[in-house]
Amino acid sequence: MRSSSLHVQRVLTGITTSGTPHLGNYVGAMRPAIAASRQPGVESFYFLADYHALIHAPDPARVQRSTLEIAAAWLAAGLDPDRALFYRQSDMPEVLELAWRLACVTGKGLLNGAHAYKAAVERNRAAGADPDAGVNMGLFMYPVLMAADVLLFKSNAVPVGRDQMQHIEMARDMAARFNHVYGEHLVLPEALIEESAATLPGLDGRKMSKSYGNSIPLFAGAAEMKKLIFSIVTDSRVPGEPKDSERSALFQIYQAFATPEETSRMRAAFAGGIAWAEAKRALFERIEAEVAPMRSRYQSLIADPPAIEQRLQQGAAKARVIASPFLAELRGAVGLRSLN
Ligand code: TRP
Repeated sequence: MRSSSLHVQRVLTGITTSGTPHLGNYVGAMRPAIAASRQPGVESFYFLADYHALIHAPDPARVQRSTLEIAAAWLAAGLDPDRALFYRQSDMPEVLELAWRLACVTGKGLLNGAHAYKAAVERNRAAGADPDAGVNMGLFMYPVLMAADVLLFKSNAVPVGRDQMQHIEMARDMAARFNHVYGEHLVLPEALIEESAATLPGLDGRKMSKSYGNSIPLFAGAAEMKKLIFSIVTDSRVPGEPKDSERSALFQIYQAFATPEETSRMRAAFAGGIAWAEAKRALFERIEAEVAPMRSRYQSLIADPPAIEQRLQQGAAKARVIASPFLAELRGAVGLRSLN
C-alpha cells in the first residue's frame, strides 16, 4: 500500500460493463470509490470499460443496456461528474492508440503469464483440447488494454480488487519498458487494494458474485430486496437460542451497512438469541435506509438515457483534453513524426 504524499494523487479505475450492479459491487467498489472521489487533493477518473466487456459479452444489446445501468448506478450512488471524470472507454480513441504502442514493447511471454489467459489454457489442456481453443486476442491482450487505460492518464493509484493486482504489475512492466526504450514518459501506477472494503457474502454465504447466482441486485425493488434478504441462509437455531454472529452471512451484510454502534447492538442481539426473521427484518430496513433514496434517483436516471449519454460525452471531452496532448507527445517519442 502506498504512503500518502503531498502532491495531488490521480486515482483511476475502470468498471467493466457487464451485468447489473449488486450489493457486493456497491459495498466493495462503488461506495469506497465514491467516498474517495470526494477527498481533497485527489483527482479521480472513473470510466466504463466497455471495450473490456466485449471480450466476454458478444451481445450488443446487453453491452448497451449494461452501460446504461452501470452509469446510472454510479451517478445514483453519488458519483459527482463535476468532481470526478466520468467517461466511457470507447469514447476515447486515445486508449486504443496507446494500447498498440504498448503492445509493441510488451513481450508475448509476459502476457502468456496472465491469470485469465493461463486459466483458459489450463482448462483446455485438462479437456484435451487445443491450448488456445476459444481464446480470442481480446482476452490475450486484456492486460495491454488495461495498461493503456491507466497509463494514458499518468495515474498514480489504481483501486482494484486483488484479482486485478497482476494487471497493475503488468502495466508497470509495460511502462518501465516503454520508458527504457523511449525515455521517461509514462508514470508507473500502484495498485490500491482496499483492505477495509468488505467482500460481501451472498445469499448462500459464499462471496456475493453474479456467477454464483447468490447476489442481491443493488436496485431491485423493495419487495424483491426483502424477499431475497429473507432467503439468506441461516442455521436452524430457534428464537431465544444464542447465534454466532461471526460466521453469519446475515450479520456480515448487516455490518457492511451499519454504523459501529448498530453493529455492536446487533452482535449483542445475536448473542441474546434474536429470531432469524427479526434479524432479517432489521437487515432489510438498514439496507433500505441507504438504498431507497439511491433507488429513486436510479429510476429517474435510467428513464432518461439521453441525459446520461450527455454526461458521458462531457466526461469524454474533458478526458480527451488531458489525453490528446499526452498522446501527441508519445507519438513524437516513438518516431511517428511529421516529415516537415
Ligand atoms: N479489469 C478491471 C476489472 O475487471 C476493469 C478495468 C478495465 C480496470 N480497465 C481498468 C480497472 C483500468 C482499473 C484500471 O475489474
